[in-house]
Amino acid sequence: MDGTFNENDLSRVVEADRAHIWHHLIQHKPFETNDPRIIVEGKGMRVWDQKGKEHLDAVSGGVWTVNVGYGRESICKAVYDQLMKLCYFANTAGSIPGSNFAEMLIDKMPGMSRVYYTNSGSEANEKAFKMIRQIAHKKYGGKKTKILYRDRDYHGSTLATMSAGGQDERTAQYGPFAPDFVRVPHCMEYRKHELDGAPEENFGEWAANQIEEVILREGPDTVGALCLEPVTAGGGVIEAPEGYWPRVQEICKKYDVLLHIDEVVCGVGRTGTWFGYQQYGIKPDFVTMAKGVASGYAAIACMVTTEEVFDMFKDDASDPMSYFRDISTFGGCTAGPAAAVENMRIIQDENLLQNCVDMGDRMMGNLQALMEKHKVIGDVRGKGLFLGAELVADRGSKEPVDEKQAQAVVADCMAQGVIIGVTNRSIPSRNNTLCFSPALIATADDIDQITDAVDGALGRVFG
Ligand SMILES: Cc1ncc(COP(=O)(O)O)c(C=O)c1O
Repeated sequence: MDGTFNENDLSRVVEADRAHIWHHLIQHKPFETNDPRIIVEGKGMRVWDQKGKEHLDAVSGGVWTVNVGYGRESICKAVYDQLMKLCYFANTAGSIPGSNFAEMLIDKMPGMSRVYYTNSGSEANEKAFKMIRQIAHKKYGGKKTKILYRDRDYHGSTLATMSAGGQDERTAQYGPFAPDFVRVPHCMEYRKHELDGAPEENFGEWAANQIEEVILREGPDTVGALCLEPVTAGGGVIEAPEGYWPRVQEICKKYDVLLHIDEVVCGVGRTGTWFGYQQYGIKPDFVTMAKGVASGYAAIACMVTTEEVFDMFKDDASDPMSYFRDISTFGGCTAGPAAAVENMRIIQDENLLQNCVDMGDRMMGNLQALMEKHKVIGDVRGKGLFLGAELVADRGSKEPVDEKQAQAVVADCMAQGVIIGVTNRSIPSRNNTLCFSPALIATADDIDQITDAVDGALGRVFG
């Protein structure tokens, strides 16, 4: 587990990859002349590629996932033992790890009560959408089917979640989309000048009031739910400004709109609390989670809701259509909850929420220091170990840097052996935010190595 393998052994892997693999989210033309990157091993915060090169991973597996780091023997053992005992049975029946994880999870989510297992974040969001639609039929005579989503937020790659997609470069060319998904404006303080009528003061409350305007325009009797990320991830690492969440909560209550919080990125520790919504006193009706639930050791996602919602689906047992008529085949895999139990135990026993807060503060401090030094950094923001640095050509106008320059910073860090991220094919001409999400086990030295690499890269790319 230290990158000491023979590069030649892997040449066939590289060739097979080039010949047969269709990678996620990238253009493949460059692979006609360059080798694809193969990640071979991982330990702690570090991974090794096919050339044996070591990388410090500042993005937890590329997409905010490996929260407890690589090579955790106890998770692998828990998964192995569970698979030997029982690998699978459809979730029409229960399982030991399924019950154990649900109990642990609900203990961390006061007010919530029911866990629905699925196997991806998109699918978890779809389950909530389906429940919201069914509630519209059961309770409101087929009205209140509309689901509001926010500009810059992302909820997945399926057609329904793309219908709720606030990132136009992700959705372009994939329409037409499902009806009754309606967009509300973003709440990004740094770019409020791009929103018509946004005030200098009390922007948070104003941004929330824009949601009320949309509800009134659409008709409150048509709007069933509002789906939001607690901190927007791929849309630019955006924390809502003060005043936003209390007002959102009031609006939902006033118009009988269910609040669906997408914790696929923030969930299970990323911001320094178990869930992002717990940072802001939000009381959700649905919470969806995926990436950090088992840190990528097994595929698992969950849709969690309240007893009140659950009760609506068992109200009339004599009506064969009244319950939630839905299944996710791999929601019955036992490896996911077995890994999730051990993942959560590690976060608890190793005090990783506190480490996330401490290392997040350190990283934020380092990024603020870089902002003093490099005028290309227009804004740094985020929560816990979920941070972003937006690069601008001019601090006054906030004109973003060319996306190629932002990508050059990422490439320079990669050459230094540090993997960082950048918003990618997300908002047109706004893919200019560097993203950092190291594992919750990061040490002060790891954090400094990451920000030192960014310092060097910014110096080289921007002079
Ligand atoms: C906020 C958010 N929701 C949902 C998803 C979709 O999750 P998955 O890729 O597991 O379907 C993502 C993926 O990046 C995400 O960032």
